[in-house]
Amino acid sequence: MATLFIYQEKIHHNIKQIKRLFARHGNVSIYPVVKVFAGDHRIVQWIEESGLEYIADSRIENLKKFASSPLKKVHLRLGQISEAKKIIQYSDISLQSQLPTIFELQRQAVLQDKVHSILLMFDVGDLREGIFYQEDFLPLVSSVEALSHIHLLGIGTNLTCYGGVVPSVFNMNELIKIANKIEELIKRPLEVISGGNSSIFPLLEDRLLPRRINNFRVGEAIFFGRETAYGETIPGCEPTTCILEAELIECEQKPSMPIGEMTMDSFGSTPSIIDKGRMNRGILAIGKQDVNPHYLLPLHPEVSILGGSSDHLIVDLGESGFVVGDTLRFTLTYPGLLQVCTSPYVKKRFISERKRRKP
Ligand SMILES: Cc1ncc(COP(=O)(O)O)c(C=O)c1O
Repeated sequence: MATLFIYQEKIHHNIKQIKRLFARHGNVSIYPVVKVFAGDHRIVQWIEESGLEYIADSRIENLKKFASSPLKKVHLRLGQISEAKKIIQYSDISLQSQLPTIFELQRQAVLQDKVHSILLMFDVGDLREGIFYQEDFLPLVSSVEALSHIHLLGIGTNLTCYGGVVPSVFNMNELIKIANKIEELIKRPLEVISGGNSSIFPLLEDRLLPRRINNFRVGEAIFFGRETAYGETIPGCEPTTCILEAELIECEQKPSMPIGEMTMDSFGSTPSIIDKGRMNRGILAIGKQDVNPHYLLPLHPEVSILGGSSDHLIVDLGESGFVVGDTLRFTLTYPGLLQVCTSPYVKKRFISERKRRKP
């Protein structure tokens, strides 16, 4: 069975480094976004051990699995009205932008006798979630502030997701202007101004991030050591925290060019194949049902990916000398990790050096 190895020390190293970088900015809170591990509870234990206080996920089903953890749970995707009851039950903080949803959260919070905190999301240009920053949002804020069981903890924005817009001094200041207007209205300071995700690091490193931005929701930076504005490794971070291993089920020398009339492959695309003569071809027991082949990067320099079908990954083995029964190792992109973690056909092994060293 294909196996994903996840290395605790590398993840902890990245968390430490990210904490260090944010500490230079000021007193901030970090919401580690663990959705990429599809609700695996073992990641929660590692986050607890890293000293962070929160855990964030976009799916309420995952937060439900983390219910026994003392970490504060943050629900990242805007709430579904139909899930309001679960959001109150399984999260402490949620990101919201819609009044009907917030009203339903209030109703459920009353029923469950809980006070639920929300971050009101504002769209400062990326055009995914959030109240558009040029709208008159104060009437909505007044309605929220009047609710007995909803606490307006702060505001947030999300960038570099749909529109690819990077955090800038301009859009961060727009967020701060919104906070100022809200504070003037509600006559108290907002505790949280959440400036975004892993795309924030270039602004942070250039020391251009306004001080008032005091919260960050970070996934890819922790698990890939990468900022997502330009795709660079964050200084001092470890880019490879996970490795995928899959087994060779066939090794044959064959031509590189299919023989016969070509129409489409098993996924309906027209194959575009370059004739490189005969080659050592390998087939691995993992397929597009588990992960898109383009999201995998072979670790062996002789090996390259040719393509795949639902259950097969086809590679050029070059002169690597691998034989049937050997396993090949790959690093993954973020979408690759997301897919592999969601596949029940890939075993997940959480590797902790500390545990291994025990007698
Ligand atoms: C609202 C929100 N905030 C933060 C994140 C984390 O993004 P990243 O992995 O780029 O840090 C995500 C995505 O996972 C998200 O949807």
